[in-house]
Amino acid sequence: MSYKYKKKKMKTIIFVGLTTEYMRKTTILALLLLSLAGVRLRADEGMWLPVLIGERIADMQSKGCRLSAEDIYSVNQACLKDAVVLFGSGCTGEVVSDEGLLFTNHHCGYGYIQRHSSVEHDYLKDGFWAMNRGEELPNPGLSVSFLERMEDVTSTVLAGIPDGMPEAERDSIVRARSAMLREAAAKEGKGLRASVESLYYGNQYFLFVFKVYRDVRLVGAPPSSIGKFGGDTDNWMWPRHTGDFSIFRIYADKDNNPAQYSPENVPMRPKKSFRISLAGVKEGDFTMVYGCPGSTKEYVVSDEVRYVSEISDPQKIALRTRRLDIIKKYMSSDQAVRIKYSSKQANIANAWKKWQGECKGIRKMNTVRTKQAFEEEFSQWARGGRYEGLTDRLHRLYADREPYYLAYEYYNETLRAIEILGFASNVCSRLRNDLPVASVAESFFKDYYQPVDEEVFDAMMEAFGEGVPKDLMPDCYRKALESHGSVQAWRKALFAGTVFTDMDKVKSLTAKDLHAIEKDPAVVMASQFQSWVMDDVYPTVASLGSQIALANRDYMKGQMEFCKDKAFYPDANLTLRVAYGNVAGYSPADGVYYSPVSTLKGIIEKDNPDIFDYDIPQRLRDIYAQGGHDAHSVCFLATNHTTGGNSGSPVLNADGDLVGINFDRVWEGTMSDYVFDPDFCRNISLDIRYLLFNIACIGNASYLFDEMHFTGGSVKALKKGKLF
Ligand code: ARG
Ligand code: GLU
Repeated sequence: MSYKYKKKKMKTIIFVGLTTEYMRKTTILALLLLSLAGVRLRADEGMWLPVLIGERIADMQSKGCRLSAEDIYSVNQACLKDAVVLFGSGCTGEVVSDEGLLFTNHHCGYGYIQRHSSVEHDYLKDGFWAMNRGEELPNPGLSVSFLERMEDVTSTVLAGIPDGMPEAERDSIVRARSAMLREAAAKEGKGLRASVESLYYGNQYFLFVFKVYRDVRLVGAPPSSIGKFGGDTDNWMWPRHTGDFSIFRIYADKDNNPAQYSPENVPMRPKKSFRISLAGVKEGDFTMVYGCPGSTKEYVVSDEVRYVSEISDPQKIALRTRRLDIIKKYMSSDQAVRIKYSSKQANIANAWKKWQGECKGIRKMNTVRTKQAFEEEFSQWARGGRYEGLTDRLHRLYADREPYYLAYEYYNETLRAIEILGFASNVCSRLRNDLPVASVAESFFKDYYQPVDEEVFDAMMEAFGEGVPKDLMPDCYRKALESHGSVQAWRKALFAGTVFTDMDKVKSLTAKDLHAIEKDPAVVMASQFQSWVMDDVYPTVASLGSQIALANRDYMKGQMEFCKDKAFYPDANLTLRVAYGNVAGYSPADGVYYSPVSTLKGIIEKDNPDIFDYDIPQRLRDIYAQGGHDAHSVCFLATNHTTGGNSGSPVLNADGDLVGINFDRVWEGTMSDYVFDPDFCRNISLDIRYLLFNIACIGNASYLFDEMHFTGGSVKALKKGKLF
């Protein structure tokens, strides 16, 4: 039964009449069901610590999960966590064979795929498939980290620290003890890295011990026309048809220990690898996501949510809209500019689109008011106790910080958007340190188009004048405007007077030129604004920020005491978590319902050779033309609570078998970093069978199936080029 459907059914039950005994009983039953429904609806919120999954397992099982807590996390036996990795430093990946084969997202492998690409071998455009182990490509700098164990070390870290100890003192004790724990843990074996992370704003500390493998090779990637299908237009959206995956292999030394890259290394033998389910998913199925979500702020006061949704997000969106419009104009009229700016544009647009969903969602949920009402109740409850006045203190701290924080954000979104300024100050600091500048200059100019930057300069400097709080407006801005008369004249003078628009001249610079370069108008402008932010803005942001952090620690603790019956999950901090829910569609607007599974048919509907992001490989058209492939599923939606960092996470079914790879959320649900709405928050996953289809039919690499373990079907037909 679908998620949506269940909710509607509950509503009808409540309207049963109220008089007879039968009806009274029915009403009690209905209310009971309603409260269960309430629990049920809220229950898909949460990113739980695997080590404490025992506290959630009954709820998970009641939703269809057939695993035990020990299957999910155990220190005594191989378990699902042993097949999950932190991929690089901001994504997740999963091991799918006993020979170290690993899946993650295409956008997580993107940088590595790009580094192997050249005009002759454009793996981003055409895809890459190793046809044997010898063809797999090493990736210096890439590591994958397996969690060996996690442990609550709060009692060691905080032993004997009294409440009210000055923060600096507490901090240095916490640091010293954390370092001690880390060092001791890292000595336990080869290739170990340990970290102590604070949870619940420093009320708890956990030790995480990882085994880090540094020889990770590229095995396969689809062409971007599959791996990034839909580009930024479809990003954060449903219906979605992106084949967002890439494939790597982990290598180890002969004893299966982590080792630097060496041709002598052999495929790593993991403790555990995921079985791959060929059965697919349907609406209502249990799913769980096992991965490394980066950052959420579910427990902050209304002030922070108000600032984000009413000030920060709208202003940053407006700034980026101006910037994106300019970039888009040049990209669409010139192929070379399109290539230069595609990756920059993707990065700018990614957060821009997410913020739009985030502030809209927060407003729609009335989160600021709900939080204010909660704060009111909390402060009543707190009267006479240790938390008295806490929320008022937080309100004041946020109010004091706001103009400074806004100015800081303006610096990041405007000054740093002018490419020549960052380049000039980078070159200047390299010259100061006697470092070579030629390669920095080449890579800058490879992706630089001056007319874009000039127009961005005008737009950003005008916006700076409009948006930075008047009291904090830097003198350098006022003076520049006064002396030049207008932003345009200022820009003309800067671009006419700087050396940083001329690649050959920049390449020839050496430390001897430093004196002259320090007077270059781009260097002068960059350093004046940098001094302003570092001297007049950031110190206040930082000091109020640490007072806020301190008050938040109390507020977190207070909330846990105040809401004794609520299950609190710690905010995400890139540590391993389990989220669970079920496959479900949603209604983005009145009269519209999105069903949760997209299919190959939709790819063909979107296919358009004239639009770069929708121009699929001819091979895919040919396969489709053979007929019978309409229902082959590509992506699916579920109610798992995820965030950035969960990209590449394994999506598992009730038996813990791999059914998908998480890669996005729907934009109407991106407020889930602050508040989770079960009606709108959906994660988007790639159907694992579409990945397998690509291996077989696009990459002709079905030899890879020989090392995978399948359940719920057979890949024989796929090997022969047929679909499921
Ligand atoms: N929205 C996804 C995430 O936040 C995917 C981003 C990559 N794709 C893109 N079209 N820019 O990372
Ligand atoms: N694409 C995001 C990532 O790279 C995941 C989307 C999200 O949930 O924020 O982690």
